[in-house]
Amino acid sequence: MKVLIVGAGGREHALAWKVGKSSLVDHVYVAPGNAGTAQENCVENIDIRSDDLTALADFAQLQNIGLTIVGPEKPLVDGIVDLFLSRNLKIFGPTQAASRLEGSKEFSKAFLVRNQIPTAKYESFSNAKKARQYVRENGTPIVIKADGLAAGKGVIIANNIFEAEKAISDMLERKRFGKAARKIVIEEFLEGDEASFIVMVDGKNVLPMATSQDYKRAGDGDVGPNTGGMGACSPAPVITPELHQRIIQEIISPTVKKMAEEGNPYSGFLYAGLMISKTGDPKVVEFNCRFGDPEAQPVLVRMKSDLVAHCLAAINGQLHRESAEWEAKNSVGVVLASIGYPDKYKTGSQVTVIKETRKKTHNGLIFHAGTTLIDNIIRTSGGRVFCATALGDSQDDARLNAYDLLKQIECDNLFCRKDIGFRVSKVDHNFS
Ligand code: AMP
Ligand code: GLY
Repeated sequence: MKVLIVGAGGREHALAWKVGKSSLVDHVYVAPGNAGTAQENCVENIDIRSDDLTALADFAQLQNIGLTIVGPEKPLVDGIVDLFLSRNLKIFGPTQAASRLEGSKEFSKAFLVRNQIPTAKYESFSNAKKARQYVRENGTPIVIKADGLAAGKGVIIANNIFEAEKAISDMLERKRFGKAARKIVIEEFLEGDEASFIVMVDGKNVLPMATSQDYKRAGDGDVGPNTGGMGACSPAPVITPELHQRIIQEIISPTVKKMAEEGNPYSGFLYAGLMISKTGDPKVVEFNCRFGDPEAQPVLVRMKSDLVAHCLAAINGQLHRESAEWEAKNSVGVVLASIGYPDKYKTGSQVTVIKETRKKTHNGLIFHAGTTLIDNIIRTSGGRVFCATALGDSQDDARLNAYDLLKQIECDNLFCRKDIGFRVSKVDHNFS
């Protein structure tokens, strides 16, 4: 069978690598892919942008693609699944209506509150004056979010009233976020530890992926601006087996059930970004309608079962027959990003990956993200450029292996956080 992966990041490299190992698969296409996918065995890049939905559907039809897996949110929110389904093409992902769980913060917050699924208290606004008044009444810290997709930049954690007013004015009056912030959501600041809880869904049944934790801020010690993620580890140390069960019961199952009942059955990867409070209570910070990046990299290196079989079962509504198997090890992925990311950065720098582009040491893999291959030279082409991902017998072990792997990459214009994989707990949990 031929499989098409849509996207160009580290998550898509990890998906292509994992899918390529399936005994069900002969060939993997990645649209548009990166230098890493260009160099994988049985993987081929296709020069189609991930937001050119018609070209992707035409390609899938022409090539008789047996399964398409979509990496990023934009094509999902734009309706790629609806288009593929209308042409009888097999695709794993949520429809446009179901993708609103990520595509509209207002939709997802209203859904959560209406269905009594735990989340931060919020209100939505399109009027700046009313928004400012709400902030004055509720005080800071407070969180201000653009309603729509804003490439990971639409969330401002305001520590004082000036920052809050600036965010409101930037979004609603100066239109710095364009259409994404025609409306905003203002919500209570949640304290605790974050975890990424990602599951596969077939409309009704759920297959949990291994848990993971993302390191979102640009700087060591979790300071600086929010990014797409500077690294991740799996499993998430904060999620105990008891908490896992509670998350399924209190968050994941009701979400899947209510989405179906409300006429938006959800199928695809569902990513619940959670905040675990000091007392061990989980609340939803956000939903994403896709696998996380960089969470996919450490999670997929631990997956022993066949992802393609899971996706096909999900498409047929048979996910309850599947069980995912995981390497009983820890994994850590460290992102190497262009200096300046997540703000302005330079691209086009030459990169040398010593020996091979994907070298196996310590069970580690270097997944590419913002790279292109031109005349056999790898050049940087994005903010996040690589994710060195390694397994280990403990999280410390996996961390050391991942940092060791990074030494294979030579490029002047890259940086990484030095503390990925360290257990950083922001609160003293009083649960075990
Ligand atoms: P989001 O895109 O909604 O996940 O927000 C991006 C990041 O902002 C989250 O991963 C959190 O680190 C932080 N964040 C968002 N909402 C809240 C909140 N209500 N309380 C604390 N931190 C938040
Ligand atoms: N790493 C966070 C995300 O994928 O949104």
